[in-house]
Amino acid sequence: MPATSVIGAQWGDEGKGKIIDLIADRADVVVRFQGGANAGHTVIVGGKKHVFHLLPSGILHEGKLNVIGNGVVVDPEQLLAEIDEFAGDGIDLTGRLLVSGAAHVVMPYHKAIDRLQEGRKAGVVIGTTGRGIGPAYADKSLRSGLRVWDLVDEKRLRHKLHANVEDKNKRITALGGKPVGFEDVFRQAAEWSWKLAPLVADTGKLLRAALAEGRHVFFEGAQGVMLDIDHGTYPFVTSSNADSLGIAAGAGVPPRAIGRQLGVSKAYCTRVGEGPFPSELSGEIADRLREGGSEFGATTGRPRRCGWFDVPAARYAAALCGFDGLCITKLDVLSGLRHVGLVTAYEVDGRILEEWPGDTELVQRAKPVVETFPGWKEKLGEARRYDDLPPAARAFVDEICERVGVPWELISVGPAREATIVRDPA
Ligand code: IMP
Repeated sequence: MPATSVIGAQWGDEGKGKIIDLIADRADVVVRFQGGANAGHTVIVGGKKHVFHLLPSGILHEGKLNVIGNGVVVDPEQLLAEIDEFAGDGIDLTGRLLVSGAAHVVMPYHKAIDRLQEGRKAGVVIGTTGRGIGPAYADKSLRSGLRVWDLVDEKRLRHKLHANVEDKNKRITALGGKPVGFEDVFRQAAEWSWKLAPLVADTGKLLRAALAEGRHVFFEGAQGVMLDIDHGTYPFVTSSNADSLGIAAGAGVPPRAIGRQLGVSKAYCTRVGEGPFPSELSGEIADRLREGGSEFGATTGRPRRCGWFDVPAARYAAALCGFDGLCITKLDVLSGLRHVGLVTAYEVDGRILEEWPGDTELVQRAKPVVETFPGWKEKLGEARRYDDLPPAARAFVDEICERVGVPWELISVGPAREATIVRDPA
């Protein structure tokens, strides 16, 4: 059985949680490979809503091994809270969850610095989730960070934490914050340590062995291509490789093992936080999309900016990742609009560009060229086959796939698992 990956093809919040949950059903191992508790994957099962931030989405399926890979930044407080929450719902994760010892740890001072940096008057404001993601990845790059292996070894923890607290307090004070106390942080970290210790493993080794045995390994992306630190709208991005290029490094597997790659896109676009968003709408249609699609952040509750589906951005994402199929989500949200739109090109400084302009400055100046198509009145929530969709909805899906150059694999018409059209249900 080949490996599969699911990647957000837009600015995150594409509805990956539901798609991942569906595919996780067929997988043996589900792997998070980047990001941290900035993610918010929502899955609705039997009318109950589950929101994951750090746990892989395979957790809802019995018998699946769930792995938090080395490329993730792990906030132990959040992870343990999620484990407890599931335990409270009767979902026991014992023996089903492993955390890479090489993953970096998000410490309380990372979160403090993230929030203080975002709150300052000068400098670039990214609109981060405030989960300490950037500062934790910065320490990883500076080679001063704490890894999970350090956390679960008391001697190493004390030594490394000492240097870190001293250094971070200088930064916190410079930003006008209150320094953290070493003993407080140490005590908290030691408590996390004994709870996390049984979950810690060399997950890369384990995944390579699983792939060699032909087990179906499923790589679950968080955020999306346009938020990727290298290939997104830098600096308005997250701090990891949030596309399929991050899988090999973040999971510890050879690139050729990555297998079938699915990109997830809404039938429109959203973005949360600052940064360029060429297809952004304002006014009545934006409000309709926001309300109809419940476009409020799963992690922060912030209202999401809404716009039409952006073809050049999607084509760029598909070319970068090499998507084999598209999962088009929230098609149902467009029902009732007289016209639906696609951004097919941009006007930048008087020139028409049909390709994604890599330079963020150009993206910032890009004005959308919008083509409109007839809308449809029918609600789509009961559609289970492509032919159940009204002709205008089918034409819109076909238009997207043709222009992006990737066939659809799955169309989502509602939040529940069953509200899905699968091209090949086998
Ligand atoms: P950070 O990842 O918290 O540092 O935030 C950096 C940028 O990525 C901000 O614009 C966030 O709103 C955005 N972001 C981070 N995680 C997600 C996500 O899961 N969905 C959508 N946007 C995200």
